[in-house]
Amino acid sequence: MDEPNGSIRLGSENFDLPVILGTEGERALDTRTLRAKSGFITYDEGYGNTGSCQSSITFINGEEGILRHRGYSIEDLAAGSSFVETAYLVIYGELPGKERLHGFTEAIRSKAAVHASMNHHFEGFPIGAHPMAVLSSMLNSLGAYYPQMTTNNREQDLAHLDETAALLISKVRTIAAMTYRMQKGLPFVFPLEKEYTEEFLHMMFSKPHIEYVDECGAAKALDLFLMLHADHEQNCSTSTVRMVASGGANLFASVSAGVSALWGPSHGGANMAVIQMLEEIHASGDDGTRFIEAAKNREARLMGFGHRVYKNYDPRARILGKSAESVLDRIGIDDPLLDIAKRLERAALEDEFFISRNLYPNVDFYSGIILKAIGIPVEMFTVMFAIGRMPGWIANWKEIAENTKSRIHRPRQIYTGHTLRDYVPVEKR
Ligand code: SDX
Repeated sequence: MDEPNGSIRLGSENFDLPVILGTEGERALDTRTLRAKSGFITYDEGYGNTGSCQSSITFINGEEGILRHRGYSIEDLAAGSSFVETAYLVIYGELPGKERLHGFTEAIRSKAAVHASMNHHFEGFPIGAHPMAVLSSMLNSLGAYYPQMTTNNREQDLAHLDETAALLISKVRTIAAMTYRMQKGLPFVFPLEKEYTEEFLHMMFSKPHIEYVDECGAAKALDLFLMLHADHEQNCSTSTVRMVASGGANLFASVSAGVSALWGPSHGGANMAVIQMLEEIHASGDDGTRFIEAAKNREARLMGFGHRVYKNYDPRARILGKSAESVLDRIGIDDPLLDIAKRLERAALEDEFFISRNLYPNVDFYSGIILKAIGIPVEMFTVMFAIGRMPGWIANWKEIAENTKSRIHRPRQIYTGHTLRDYVPVEKR
């Protein structure tokens, strides 16, 4: 597309800068030459107005609540696809034909087991270790078993990408399940090369002598949960993966950093915080009214609400809200937390404080209710988010690695510290 020119005026001077146009009509002022031309940098703490890359993986229109992966709407994918198929789409850019889908599925199915010596790594963690600390370190140490994929040589690491992608998507489940079993003092359960989420639930909940039986459609609900988390543009953890990848680091190191970035309560940790918030409201006998008031007085934050990009309903939250209801119906659970969540949502969507700030439910608002219903403990919720986001992290790493012009990410700053001063020896201080 023709790039109309932009220009900015600084003092008495005009500086012409090119404009970059996206395929969905987004426009960016290309400021890559601004400092050389004007001596100015841009300043945008939190990057709310800054594009860090050009990417063809995921498109979000926050004003309209649109989410698409490689052009396919999340609604269509949720209705017709699976987590593994969506993972393929996110990573490789096209929906796979039957043969490719079978090959990708089998590659994942066959790579679930981890090297036996990794069992000893788990013994080194204290029982109370947070599962996200375990996951991040285990993903990085997993790379030590595949030196051919962790050369930090772009071409060599890319040459092994297909195998590394299948291996990470497969083994992240195994590591998650082993983390859970370790925390509970349970023996590890070997994979049986089942379907993706059935395999995970087996490794989580089977006993050595009694195999887990999915009586409530948990595998199907979990598949939808994981698919809805597959990628989400340049969020905090994906941007971290790209930052680490930009320095030439291998995929294991990059996704390990992504797990650490996801951990915080403002990001992936919100799904745990939502359940804790709902349980506190329930325990206090509040029907949500008092909590809404507290949030409006800034004495509390309505976790699972608000989003940097969505200024409309997060389409994933809408789908997860319906899934939560059907999972609870199937199981026959009448979870008071779902009633409280729906009351909070109704109240917030009618309240000027939330409306004026465009605060709507996000992906984390209902997801915890689903995970809790299928037996995943709260401390594992953000690990589940990481399992779902693995394809998106791999796709973004691949986009950086394949871009021969990609440069190391190294933002500038505005220095606000002391100006030059003389050193004073300690005797004179
Ligand atoms: C995820 O980026 C992604 O794509 C992330 C994600 C993905 O898939 O990767 O979608 C996953 O991380 C979803 C978000 C999960 N986090 C939460 O649910 C935590 C609760 N939400 C907030 O902390 C907050 O909304 C953020 C962090 C999500 C967004 O923060 P912003 O964009 O920095 O917004 P802000 O803090 O500047 O808030 C703007 C205003 C403020 O009020 P004023 O000071 O202007 O009066 O809205 C208020 C905030 O106080 N506000 C909230 C609120 N979120 C914002 N008030 C009450 N409850 C909230 N949840």
